[in-house]
Amino acid sequence: MRINTLIGEENIKSRVKELADEIQKDSNGEEVVLIAILKGSVFFATELAKQMSSPVIMDFIKVSSYSGTQSTGKISFKLDLSENVENKNVIIVEDIVDTGRTLTYLKDYILINKHPKSLKICTLLDKKERREFELNPDYVGFDIPDKFVIGYGLDYDEKYRNLPYIGYIEQ
Ligand code: IMP
Ligand code: MG
Repeated sequence: MRINTLIGEENIKSRVKELADEIQKDSNGEEVVLIAILKGSVFFATELAKQMSSPVIMDFIKVSSYSGTQSTGKISFKLDLSENVENKNVIIVEDIVDTGRTLTYLKDYILINKHPKSLKICTLLDKKERREFELNPDYVGFDIPDKFVIGYGLDYDEKYRNLPYIGYIEQ
């Protein structure tokens, strides 16, 4: 098994900075709540937060929909937010949007139950070809082809999250 690089470390770093700048510009320097979806998005969300100079609150939520490389098609809720985000500018931070199922579910959940002032989605990677749910992220780091990717938070059966770049497995 070989791991090929799809997006290198420096490339990710500069794109994350651009996204942070864009988010700050759009929020006029107002406080934003970054909600990272555990576990995959934590690596991206903390890097994004570190590139922002306006006030940032971090929170976490956990759902799961995947085992191995195939989506099970089901979402189960594992951990709820700990902050009150009512009337706040909220951004859900995701590692990758694939079918769009996870974010469609989470977006509705937060809108209906948590009453934010605004709700946006920021994803590092977007696998548009695989979309089954109509979902357009507000901020996208990179559009990628339909490959199973690992690294920078993304796992294959819990492994490879700690790779500093995005790669794919060549069998
Ligand atoms: P969706 O609900 O189908 O959009 O799936 C999103 C979730 O599936 C992501 O948060 C990832 O955890 C996982 N996922 C989708 N594609 C990949 C991949 O290529 N590598 C690793 N995880 C993936
Ligand atoms: Mg995930």
